[in-house]
Amino acid sequence: MSPSNTLRAVTWSLSGNILVVTIDHPPVNALSADVRRGLVDSLDAAERDPAVAAVLIVGAGRNFIAGADIREFGKPPQPPALPDVCERIEAASKPVVAALHGATLGGGLEIALAAHYRVALASAKLGLPEVKLGLMPGAGGTQRTPRLIGVAAALDLMLSGRHANAEEALALGLVNQLGKGEDVLEAGLAYARELVARHAPPRRTRDARAFEADPAAARTAIDEARRHTATRSRGLFSPGKIVDAVQAALELPFDEGLAYERRAFLECLDSPQRAGLVHAFFAEREAAKAPETKAASPRPIASTGVVGGGTMGAGIAVAILEAGLPVVMIERDDEALARGRAYVERVYDGLVAKGRLSRAGKEQALARFTGSTDYAALSTVDLIVEAVFEDMAVKKTVFAELDRVARPQAVLATNTSYLDIDEIAAVTSRPADVIGLHFFSPAHVMKLLEIVVPARVATDVVSTAFEFARRLGKTPVRAGVCDGFIGNRLLAVYRTAADYLMEDGASPYQIDRAMREFGYPMGPYQVVDLAGGDIGWAARKRRAPTRDARMRYVEIADRLCERGWFGQKTGRGFYRYEPGARTGSPDPEVEAIIDAERQRHGIVPRHFDDEEIVRRLMTAVINEAANIVREGIALRPLDVDVALVHGYGFPRHRGGPMMYADTIGLAHVLADLRRYEEEDAFFWQPSPLIVELVERGASFSSLNGAAR
Ligand code: 3HC
Ligand code: NAI
Repeated sequence: MSPSNTLRAVTWSLSGNILVVTIDHPPVNALSADVRRGLVDSLDAAERDPAVAAVLIVGAGRNFIAGADIREFGKPPQPPALPDVCERIEAASKPVVAALHGATLGGGLEIALAAHYRVALASAKLGLPEVKLGLMPGAGGTQRTPRLIGVAAALDLMLSGRHANAEEALALGLVNQLGKGEDVLEAGLAYARELVARHAPPRRTRDARAFEADPAAARTAIDEARRHTATRSRGLFSPGKIVDAVQAALELPFDEGLAYERRAFLECLDSPQRAGLVHAFFAEREAAKAPETKAASPRPIASTGVVGGGTMGAGIAVAILEAGLPVVMIERDDEALARGRAYVERVYDGLVAKGRLSRAGKEQALARFTGSTDYAALSTVDLIVEAVFEDMAVKKTVFAELDRVARPQAVLATNTSYLDIDEIAAVTSRPADVIGLHFFSPAHVMKLLEIVVPARVATDVVSTAFEFARRLGKTPVRAGVCDGFIGNRLLAVYRTAADYLMEDGASPYQIDRAMREFGYPMGPYQVVDLAGGDIGWAARKRRAPTRDARMRYVEIADRLCERGWFGQKTGRGFYRYEPGARTGSPDPEVEAIIDAERQRHGIVPRHFDDEEIVRRLMTAVINEAANIVREGIALRPLDVDVALVHGYGFPRHRGGPMMYADTIGLAHVLADLRRYEEEDAFFWQPSPLIVELVERGASFSSLNGAAR
C-alpha cells in the first residue's frame, strides 16, 4: 500500500477488496528473514485496513516458495521465526488464500498450510523435502499436515520428501481447488473473490480433523513408518524424529505438538547429518558451474550418435533417448548391433513392466533410435559418445573414423574409464572437439557424469558437455585427465587400502560390514563381486609392467580370479552365491586362501576394529583426493565430494570425503597418515596439500570458493 515497500522482498497492494501479498525474492522465493518479516507486516496491514476483505499470498517468478532459506542454516537466527509467521497467518481474522505454482516446498508448503484456503496451478509441485537435508518440517508441517490429509499420507510425504503435483495434492486434500491457466495471480484472485462473495470465514488447519477419521489406521501407519525408518533409513537421524513428531500430533494438543516439533527440528538442525546433506545440496549445484560454462555458450545439440552397443553404449543411448534426443548407434557388425538394440529395448521393457512407462511411450522413445554398422550414419549428428572396448588401439581407430565422417563442430566424446584422452584426441585433426564424458553403470540410472577436460579441448565444447549433462538430468563434475580421473583413481586407492587391511588381518566380510555401517550401501568386496572380479584383474595385469616397485601388491583377488571366481556372475567371488541370489554368504575357502597368502608373505594377522577399518579406508581416500585437488584434476574439494556421493555410494549424509575430513579435522587426518606412514611410507605419504592446510589451520572447505 505504501510505495516505499515496492523494492522489498514482500510487497502488498489492494485489488478491489483483496490484499494481494507478493513474495518476490529470487531465485526461488526462499523464506529469508526479509520475506518472513514482510509476510508478518503484510498481515498486520490487512488487519488494520477495513477495506481488506481477504488476503491472497502469491509468489513472483516461477515458484510460490521453495522453503526455508537453506543458506541461513547454521547462522544466528533472526526474528521472526518461521513457525511464528505461520501462526500469524493462521490466526488472521480475515480469510487468507495461498495461490500456488511451481515449487511449494518445505516451509513454503507450511506457509500454504497455515493459510485458510489453497488453490494450485498445474505447475505446482508440493512437498516436504526437509528429510533430504537431514531435517524435518519445522514450521508446523508435522502437526498441520496429518490434521489436513491424515497420518499415512502425511508420513509418506515427509519421509520420502517427494513432490506431489497439483492433481494429487487436490486428491490428498492438500489444496482446495485447481486453478485454470498459467497466471497465478488471476487464479488466486478468482478464488479469493469467490470466497469473499460467499462470506467464507477463516478456516484454520489446526482445527482440521482428518487424522481422527480412523484412529486404528493412524496407529498402524505410525508403527509401519517406524519399522520402515529402522530398516530403509538406517543410520539417518531425522526420519525417526519425523515419525515421533507425527505421533505427537496425534497425542498432544496442537500448541504442545508445535513445541515438540520445534525442539526436534532444532536437534536436527544441529546434527552433523544436516550439515553433510546441505553441503551435498550446494556442492552438486556448484559442481555444475565449471568456469567454461561462464566463459562460452554451448554448441546446439539436436542429434547424437553412440559408438558401441555394449553395457555402457546401450545405457548411454537410453539416457539420451530419455532426454528426448535422437540416437544413432554404431556397432561392428549386424549381430553386435542387434545385441545393442536388444539391450536398449530390454531397458524399456523393464520400465513398462514396472508401470513407469506406457507401451506407446516405449514406441515413441524407440522411434528416435536407429542403428548402423556404417560410420557414415554419423555424418550429420551434433555429438558422438564412443563406448567401445577399453583398449587404446581400438579407441584410436574409432576416433580416426569419427574424424573422417563427423561434421565440423561436432563434439567427439569418449566414455573411457582410465585411458589418456589427450592421446585419443591427438589421432584426430580436431583435438579441440574431443572431450571425455564418463558415464557410470547403469548409465541410464547413475547420476554422475564426469566431464573430463583434455588439454586441447575448446572452451565451448566443455560448456556443451555441461549443458548436455543438464539435459540428461545428470550431475556433472569437471575432471582433468589422469589415470582414473577423479572417481576411479580414488576407488583404486580405497580398494588398495582395503586389500592391505585384508592381508594384514581383517576379513573381507568385516571390512564390508564396517563400510556399510559407515553408510555405504555395499562394502568394497561386495562391489567387486557385483561388477565382476575379471574387470579389475584385467586392469591389474595391464598395469603390472608399469607398477611402481615400491608399491605393496596384494595378490588375494588374483588368486580368486585364477580359480574363475569372478563374483555374482560365476556364483563365487569373495562371497558364495546360491543360483540367482544377489547376496552372498562368507566363504571359508576364501578365508583359507587369504590365510595362505598371509603365510606366504610372513604376515602375522592383526586385529582391526571396525572404527580402524573405516579410518584407514577414509584416510587413504582423503589423502589421494587432496592430491587430486592439488594437481587440479578436481577444481575444488566439493567436486570430489559430488563425484563420490553420486557415483560411488559415499554416504550423502556425510557430505563427501572432503567434507567428512573437515568434520573430523585435518590435523587428525594428518596424525593418522603419519602413524600409517611408519608401516608403509610409499602408500601413506601425506599429501602436501594436507600438510599445508594443517600448517595454516585451514580446511578443505576454505578451497571451495577458489574456482567459482
Ligand atoms: N534456500 C536457499 N536457496 C535455495 C533454496 C532454498 N530453500 N532452494 C533453491 N535455492 C537456490 C539454489 O541453491 C540455486 O542457487 P544458485 O543459482 O546460486 O546455484 C537456485 O536457488 C536455483 O536452484 P536450482 O538450481 O535447484 O533450481 P531448480 O529450478 O532446478 O530447482 C527447486 C528448484 C525445486 C526449488 C530446488 O532448488 C530445490 O529442491 N530446493 C530445495 C527445496 C527444499 O529442500 N526446501 C526445504 C527447505 S528446509 C525447510 O523449508 C525447513 C522448514 O520446514 C522450517
Ligand atoms: P562392452 O564390452 O560391454 O561393450 C563394448 C562394445 O563395443 C561391444 O558391443 C563391441 O561390439 C563394441 N565395439 C568394439 N569395437 C567397436 C568398433 N570398432 N566400432 C563399433 N563398436 C565396437 O564394454 P562396456 O562395459 O560397455 O565399456 C565400454 C567403455 O565404457 C569402455 O571404455 C569402458 O572402460 C567404459 N566404461 C565402462 C563402465 C562399466 O561399468 N562397464 C563404466 C564406465 C565406463
